[in-house]
Amino acid sequence: MNYHQQQQFRPTKAIIDLSAIRYNIENLRKHLHADVEIIAVVKANAYGHGDIQVAKVAIEAGATMLAVATPEEALHVREAIENTPILILGAVPESFAPFAAEHNITLTVFTTEWVNEVSKTSKDFKKPLKVHIKVDSGMGRIGVRTEKEVKAVYDAIILANNIEVDGIFTHFATADEEDTVQYNHQVKLFKELVQTLPEKPRLVHAANTAASLVKENVQFDAVRFGISMYGLAPSPYVEKNLPYELHPALSLVSELVYVKKIAKGDTISYGGTYVAQQEEWVGTIPVGYADGVIRGLSGQEVLVDGMRAPIIGRICMDQCMIKLPRKMTVGEKVVLIGKQQQDEIRIQEWADRLHTIVYEIPCMLSSRVPRVYD
Ligand SMILES: Cc1ncc(COP(=O)(O)O)c(C=O)c1O
Repeated sequence: MNYHQQQQFRPTKAIIDLSAIRYNIENLRKHLHADVEIIAVVKANAYGHGDIQVAKVAIEAGATMLAVATPEEALHVREAIENTPILILGAVPESFAPFAAEHNITLTVFTTEWVNEVSKTSKDFKKPLKVHIKVDSGMGRIGVRTEKEVKAVYDAIILANNIEVDGIFTHFATADEEDTVQYNHQVKLFKELVQTLPEKPRLVHAANTAASLVKENVQFDAVRFGISMYGLAPSPYVEKNLPYELHPALSLVSELVYVKKIAKGDTISYGGTYVAQQEEWVGTIPVGYADGVIRGLSGQEVLVDGMRAPIIGRICMDQCMIKLPRKMTVGEKVVLIGKQQQDEIRIQEWADRLHTIVYEIPCMLSSRVPRVYD
């Protein structure tokens, strides 16, 4: 028997509140026009929350399509979820096309070369391959950029056997910002390019979370809902203008595994960079940079018994130390992200400390941290 797979001994874990995810999607549903579909973005293991569990809840809450970034992610989700269409948002090699057709996985296309290569074998596909044409209206990542390029890709698909244009989409670079100059330009260009198609595909989509929640008239046929499904606002600007409150889904918890009193002048961790200024109580928690609690988080506070306690000294690979507000016992619960009693440590607090965006934080929690579902 694989005891290590069935039991969890280390107290460090990420707790995922699936009811928060459900709540965030149900409120988006109410906010959208009735006929607009929700594409639940579950790439990168659902932003670190667990792709299968999140996808199942998202479908129950009203999502009609799932989006991932890579073929591997699509196949992983498809093994657990049979029928819901899955869109791969990124570029995929031509060699994946037969698998995609067979497993109802929709691909993003944006070059005639790709379509022509796949069309050499597509007549043998048992089911038609569905594709969405990607328009680069200003993000500068992947996509067709001009009317000529849209037409060329569209015509190549129509000429090919067994490839269907199911959708066309674009992605905004600045939807989460107050300034609308670039955003408006992208909307205008996208609309113009969509209009050049001889027939409107089933799904025209552009909006990410920010555009879905705070911009007007870009819902088209579907929105791609990522970060706020997890209860996080894409930016402080969107946070201030949210149409409904978001419920964060992820907490990161651990426990004290060792407690000691140190004397004035004693040092803590590698390099001895933390020097006690007086006698103090120090707790050790079993979480470190191999879990995604990276060294830049030294100084970040955690919650113990509802009180804030800073991480002191350098964070080690598997452990770190906190300065306790008083003597405590081994086994005391520690919250690194989430609520404890009256206080809460929000992901935004980590993002601010690390000079990054909230997206990066749940994604960086490594696979060593078990995800536990509530
Ligand atoms: C193409 C595309 N669509 C949608 C999303 C979801 O964005 P958000 O998490 O801001 O909703 C992403 C995320 O990076 C993306 O790359």
